[in-house]
Amino acid sequence: MAIRNVRTLGDEVLGKKAREVKEMTPRLRQLIDDMFETMYEYQGVGLAAPQVGILRQIVVIDTEEDSPIVMVNPRILEQSGSQSGNEGCLSVPGKAGVVTRPNYVKAEAYDENMERFEIEATDLLARAICHEVDHLDGIMYVDKVEGDLFDVEQEEEEE
Ligand code: NI
Repeated sequence: MAIRNVRTLGDEVLGKKAREVKEMTPRLRQLIDDMFETMYEYQGVGLAAPQVGILRQIVVIDTEEDSPIVMVNPRILEQSGSQSGNEGCLSVPGKAGVVTRPNYVKAEAYDENMERFEIEATDLLARAICHEVDHLDGIMYVDKVEGDLFDVEQEEEEE
């Protein structure tokens, strides 16, 4: 496993649409492992492949309240309600802002073995799924933020 370089706001790859995954390959499995390692290293809740420069429809999410989730080719099937709260992104380090998202989503995706599954999510997990699926469409939360971004304290990096 390896920690990948996280692209930051202004990098053009973050504004592009990611391509569907047709079949799982050793290379993509490696990417998924690396995405988890990178997300944990930087203490993120989710990470989308374009954030590490790969335009494929893959996201990883770990809210710590649910099991870690891999979503390949995710699609939101249903959404309802709304929640307004602070959101951040590893591609916008040290910043956060208020974004309104659905409070419930039902999504379909494929796992690392390309088995289809559906997931229902509320609260933080629903927010995370919406945020990561947006990345695959080249949409950043800063495009949806209400008001200004604000600074958040970054935890001291342990060497
Ligand atoms: Ni993000």
